[in-house]
Order: sequence, then structure tokens, then C-alpha cells
Amino acid sequence: MTLEIPRPDDWHVHLRQGKRMGDYVRAHAAAFGRVLAMPNTIPPLTTPDEISAYRELAREAAPDLDVLTAFRLMPDTGGEEVSALADSGIKAGKYYPDGVTTNSKGGLSNWRQIESALAAMEASGMVLCLHGEEPTASVLKREEAFLPVFREIREAFPRLKMILEHVSSAAGVQAVIDDQGPSAATVTVQHLLFTLDDLIGGSLNPHLFCKPVVKTDEDRKAIQERILDGDNRFFFGSDSAPHEKGQKESPHCPAGAYTAPMALPALVSWFDGVDALDRLEPFLCEFGRNFYGLPSNRGTVRLERRSWTVPQISQGCVPLMAGEELLWRVVSISAV
Ligand code: NCD
Ligand code: ZN
Repeated sequence: MTLEIPRPDDWHVHLRQGKRMGDYVRAHAAAFGRVLAMPNTIPPLTTPDEISAYRELAREAAPDLDVLTAFRLMPDTGGEEVSALADSGIKAGKYYPDGVTTNSKGGLSNWRQIESALAAMEASGMVLCLHGEEPTASVLKREEAFLPVFREIREAFPRLKMILEHVSSAAGVQAVIDDQGPSAATVTVQHLLFTLDDLIGGSLNPHLFCKPVVKTDEDRKAIQERILDGDNRFFFGSDSAPHEKGQKESPHCPAGAYTAPMALPALVSWFDGVDALDRLEPFLCEFGRNFYGLPSNRGTVRLERRSWTVPQISQGCVPLMAGEELLWRVVSISAV
């Protein structure tokens, strides 16, 4: 059995910097048509010039992959800067609470620090991408503890497009459902498929350790239900976050799961397994671009139902589900 779909979108990726960046970009290009890169680089991506230089590097690595980049909101980002970013065609800004995840130091401690930036984002139709965790709360409750901020921002900016990135809890899912304004959530492979038991129930799996952490079966079910329902507010964003094998398998394992090499086969295998292949294409190719107001990608990706073992190592990293068998594989991708 084969399946051909338009080249899909991944609305949350980390492409990093330096010698490995090109490899990570190409890993996405092998299965996707467009990605939204997150700006948690050092230094962070904050200006139109930095972002266009970053996109140029990505383009050199994989000319067929459309790489969009979010700018990072800093405590001193103002409305005029945001207007300039919007004028240069940038579609999204990323909100990191201070210290909440990899490379997020110097982030925000209160959304009121960026009121004028948010007003400019709302006025220009930009998307606010939220790393929705309150860093001072206990780890399993961090997403839920952030939701008052989500609601306060909504109250202040009724037309602001907001995405609760990598939604991980039933409470987060419910906040998006209940929201009266334009909001959505990105869903990762790991939060769709796994729980805390997979992370720490047996032997510790550092390659599944990411922020926000995978949670309970109830949380996973709440996410799965939205996808099976075909809810257009829930679409794919892998949060593929490469960290080299030696770092992940160390006493100071950084947060981040590397999923670029296996995300698409894993998703197709899951949708097929729950008899919901009809939900796949909207989740991967339509809901996100409609939310962002962007056209569909040219070209297609072809998959085949022939089992495949996720490699032990890709681009120096251990991908999620390394060594495990998936039912589907990518056969080919074409940009035209
Ligand atoms: C991401 C990373 O490594 O950059 N890590 C993660 O655990 N998800 C950052 C992020 O999106 O939180
Ligand atoms: Zn991320």
C-alpha cells in the first residue's frame, strides 16, 4: 500500500547553528515542504537581518525546503521593532518564559513586559507562539500553571493569533478549545504517542526527555481525541530538537527530542493503526497553513506501508524510537 500527500508542514522545529545546521535542515527536507524554525539560538534571532541571514543558510543547505523563522520576543522588544519584523514578512514571534527550556535564559518574566509588541503583533496579524510553561511550577503542572497568562493575553488582545506550542496536557487542550479568539496548538509526535511511563517508567529514556515533559495517559488521550476529531485548531509541529548523542546520554541531559528523521513515518503509522488515515493530510498539510494564512506547498511526498527500523543515529543524534520498527516509510519526495 502506498500513500501520496502534498509535502507537509512542520510548524515548530529547531535547526540550530554551526556545522550541523545543514544536516538538520536536510533531515526535514527529506520529508517536509515547509518548516517554522524557532529562534532559540545564541544569540537569539530578533531582527529582520539576523533572520534573513539564518534563512539564507538554511536555503543553501536545502533549496527546496521553505524555511520560515520566528523572531524571539525579549523583555525589551517594542512595538516598532515588531512592525519592522512584520514589514519584512516575518509571520511569528516566540515567547519563552525566562529559563524554561534549552537556550531560553533572558526570556520573559511577565507578559506585560511586551504589551506594545503584542499590540503590534495583533495589528499586523502575526502569530504569537507560546512556550506555555510557568517555570516556577512543579514540572508536571507547568503547562497548566501557564494558562492564566494565555487567558490574560487573550483578554487584552482579542484578535491576536496565539499558538500553545507542543501542547502536552488535557488542561492545555481545554484552554484552546475554550478560547474565544483565534488560537491553536501544535502537536508533537512524542506528546501524541508517549507518556511519562515511557520516559521514566522503566529504564530512563533521555531521548524522550523534552520540555514540556510527556505526561499522563489522560493528557495523551485529550490530545489524540482532538486529532481524531479533525479539530482544525490542532496541527503538527514536531519540536524536533537535536542534541548530540554524547550530550543527551550525560548527567546533564538537555531537554529536546530529535524527531525529524522519523516523525512522518511515525505519524502515518499511528494514523493507520487507529484507522484514521483520512485525518492525516489536514493535520499535516492544511490546518496549520490556514491558521498562518499561507498557501499550500508544491510537490508531494510518497510513503509506503513497508516496515522500517528507525536508525540508531542520525546527524550525530539519537532519534526518538531509535531501533524500533515503524510500519510506514518515506519512499520519495518531489518539490514539483
Ligand atoms: C527545545 C530545544 O532543545 O531547543 N527543547 C525541548 O525540550 N523542546 C526547546 C523547546 O522548544 O522547548
Ligand atoms: Zn521547541
